[in-house]
Amino acid sequence: MATITINGKPCEFEGQKMILEVAKENNIEIPHYCYHEGLSITASCRICLGEVWAPNPRNDNKLEAIPRLMPTCQTPAGDGQKVYTDSPKAVANQKAVMEYLLLNHPLDCPICDQAGECGLQDYSYQFGRSESRFVEDKIKQPKKDLGDDVYLYSDRCIMCTRCVRFTREITETNELCVVGRGSDEQIDLFPGLALNNPLSGNVVDICPVGALLDKDFQFQQRVWFMKNTPSIDGLTAGGDNISIHHNDGKIYRIKPRRNLAVNKWWISNEIRYGWKFIESEERFTAPSKLQYGERVPTTFANAYAEIDEALTAIASKQGKIAALVSPMIPCEEAYLLCDYVRHWHENPADAILGVGPIPVEGEDQTFPPGVAADAPNAYTIHAEKAPNARGVQRILKALAALDGNEPTASYDEFLKKVKAAEAVIITGNFPSAWATKDLTKALTKKFVILIDTLPNEVSKKANVILPAATFMEKAGTFENANHLIQAFERAIQPIEGTKSEGQILTDLITIAEGKELAESTLFNSGNTRLAMATNAGLNEFIADVQFPMESSAIPDEEYEMALVEI
Ligand code: SF4
Ligand code: FES
Repeated sequence: MATITINGKPCEFEGQKMILEVAKENNIEIPHYCYHEGLSITASCRICLGEVWAPNPRNDNKLEAIPRLMPTCQTPAGDGQKVYTDSPKAVANQKAVMEYLLLNHPLDCPICDQAGECGLQDYSYQFGRSESRFVEDKIKQPKKDLGDDVYLYSDRCIMCTRCVRFTREITETNELCVVGRGSDEQIDLFPGLALNNPLSGNVVDICPVGALLDKDFQFQQRVWFMKNTPSIDGLTAGGDNISIHHNDGKIYRIKPRRNLAVNKWWISNEIRYGWKFIESEERFTAPSKLQYGERVPTTFANAYAEIDEALTAIASKQGKIAALVSPMIPCEEAYLLCDYVRHWHENPADAILGVGPIPVEGEDQTFPPGVAADAPNAYTIHAEKAPNARGVQRILKALAALDGNEPTASYDEFLKKVKAAEAVIITGNFPSAWATKDLTKALTKKFVILIDTLPNEVSKKANVILPAATFMEKAGTFENANHLIQAFERAIQPIEGTKSEGQILTDLITIAEGKELAESTLFNSGNTRLAMATNAGLNEFIADVQFPMESSAIPDEEYEMALVEI
């Protein structure tokens, strides 16, 4: 394995890598702006320059200094090299670059959304000089409305061109370009185009300063007040890794988490902005029941008692109970639902279990266009708009095998089988209308229990409605389109009056066991996974679950450097 020494630390590396990449892998911080792992290298910002000493094969492999500072983002790492980005020459360059970048910068951090997570602020503190020597008037640049979701504050731009390269290399939509030269240089829209591609929000994430702003997040919250919870996209089959940024029980924004095996560095606008339904005023916020044809509010305890009484009566006559398991709910909740329904039958094989409708919109869309979906740089927007169809099907298949049954293969097959049931438990949790006419027809004259978040056709006729929690309000695991099982954490508490499906089923199972509701335990997705994995065919839920990874490897410690005046 080849070795390079960076700032005195020996770093091993394999394959062809740039010095900056080896440094990142070894938690050595070299400042950089224009470099981004997912984009081409332009080496234009010049802040990453370092002194490079390399063995010269024509001089007995003696170490010789390359006679100028080299861009570490663009210089290949070589065996035996010694690199210094903390030497007086390199530090002087960092300070000069920072001074140059801040010449015309408006220093409007107090009203900038990026403050607190800004590359200019951080590097100015770590690598810059404490006072400006610029006494002339600053050049003022315009603010621009780039499209439906993004503003550009040109004043703050450092011309790293990450955003331009993103639209050229990832979406290939080319909406952004550089116009002008020198101090007049600006980012602009290509004439006649608007930044409205399906991945446009990513330019805000990759802008190292506060020049590109998310309209949806603008002036909403200071970033240091927010907590970040690692999560998984709960809207599509991609399993994209996301961070949910929230404060005081309110979600403010969604950002991508880097995972090279799934979504690389990106998320679609659909995932970034599609979570708003969780704040809908239409959300169910209390249990309700049908009484003489009227829907009346009730308590969880009363709703549970009514459900238990109805299912006990049906089970005592050997009647069948069905469950429609939504592809929107995590594996743990799907398992508990199936477990609860199987429990009511003397022979668990009599329980009718099926997966809910799996919404599909159009076709998968892969970026960059024309690249194979499994290419190392490919990002796919999945046409399947449910996060866990495969996880639910995995559970149904394993339980059917356990019961000596054929699993219900599809939603249509479930609709046929459900006719034999006297009671049906339905889970939804879709962000928009989902119940099909066939389903509402199939539910006629049955005792219907709906565990859901938003009103729909089924909620009009459900005997009991239990208000459920969205994916941001619970923990669990989703299996994505490529059969990757990924765990996610709860970002915020379920909104008042709701409970996760996992908690509702834990309560119902407690009551079905003849215990008091007060004896019910708190639903715990990890413990449920352990219980699931004791079943043959479900041990993946111990062995193969992927947990959230940290998205960056920036060390916590402060950067030490010599004071160099220039
Ligand atoms: S707007 Fe941001 S990403 Fe684009 S060039 Fe300027 S600083 Fe770089
Ligand atoms: S990061 Fe190397 S020149 Fe910009």
